[in-house]
Amino acid sequence: MSDETSAPLDSPDLDAVRRLIRAAERPVVLTGAGMSAESGVPTFRDAQTGLWERFSPEALATEEAFLADPALVWSWYRWRARMVRSVAPNAGHAAVAAWQERVPALEVVTQNVDDLHERAGSRVLSHLHGSLFAFRCAECGAPADVDPGAADDGAAGSEADLEAMLGHQPPPCTVCGDGLVRPGIVWFGEMLPADAWDRAYAALEACDLAVVIGTSGVVQPAASLPFVALGAGAAVVEINPDLTELSPAVTHRLAGPAGVILPALLS
Ligand SMILES: NC(=O)c1ccc[n+]([C@@H]2O[C@H](COP(=O)([O-])OP(=O)(O)OC[C@H]3O[C@@H](n4cnc5c(N)ncnc54)[C@H](O)[C@@H]3O)[C@@H](O)[C@H]2O)c1
Ligand SMILES: [Zn+2]
Repeated sequence: MSDETSAPLDSPDLDAVRRLIRAAERPVVLTGAGMSAESGVPTFRDAQTGLWERFSPEALATEEAFLADPALVWSWYRWRARMVRSVAPNAGHAAVAAWQERVPALEVVTQNVDDLHERAGSRVLSHLHGSLFAFRCAECGAPADVDPGAADDGAAGSEADLEAMLGHQPPPCTVCGDGLVRPGIVWFGEMLPADAWDRAYAALEACDLAVVIGTSGVVQPAASLPFVALGAGAAVVEINPDLTELSPAVTHRLAGPAGVILPALLS
């Protein structure tokens, strides 16, 4: 949606949210792709050019795509895992981890498939959309141990690394012998893992403050979670440089990047 001028870091809004944070006993942080943007992991919507035009997430993140061309989908996910491995958590991830250290009841619920919250030191309650580093058999569901490998220095995330990955077939499952190993990602059209969803829902229902960071609020059912918190009477703060589908509904909005706003709020 449309751009908005960022909140100055001494704005009254920021002070109001600081007070909410100090008072919160059961806060939840709910994150999307924008949380990792400043680490160098592109969001789907910010990455409609170049490589991502050739390999569009909408076309590759489906079961149909995997069945039609397992090697292509496998290669794309291995390449993304290698990219994420090559980058580091940003100041926003670090601020969330420090908050959780002060308030251990804080829960982190993420749509992200990267492991940047964990690498910053957070305990994550729920990866709603799975993980780039968890693999399973497409037939029997058995977990599979796969090392996506590390790209050569500087090559991770590059077109050259994707070219190097292309054509690799997913390994066969060693448990059933029938299936191919697939990424442990929730693809478009698939159900969320019930346990991850149930934990997230319960946390949002019980929270007194939800901070929603870097999500466009269009991917369901994750986009409904802030409304669970609102329904329970909690304050809901949105941190995002742009207006989103959620913006009209929240109780507080801070316009700006997560890596700037979160340290300013939490330091
Ligand atoms: N890092 C990842 O794991 C990753 C990356 C890309 C996509 N995805 C997947 O794509 C789906 C897309 O949904 P989504 O809502 O998470 O992402 P999205 O791509 O739909 O939206 C990203 C949002 O982040 C905002 N944003 C951009 N830079 C930001 C910053 N520096 N600080 C704060 N906000 C910023 C954008 O304005 C946008 O609203 C999800 O299912 C997610 O699993 C994950
Ligand atoms: Zn199997």
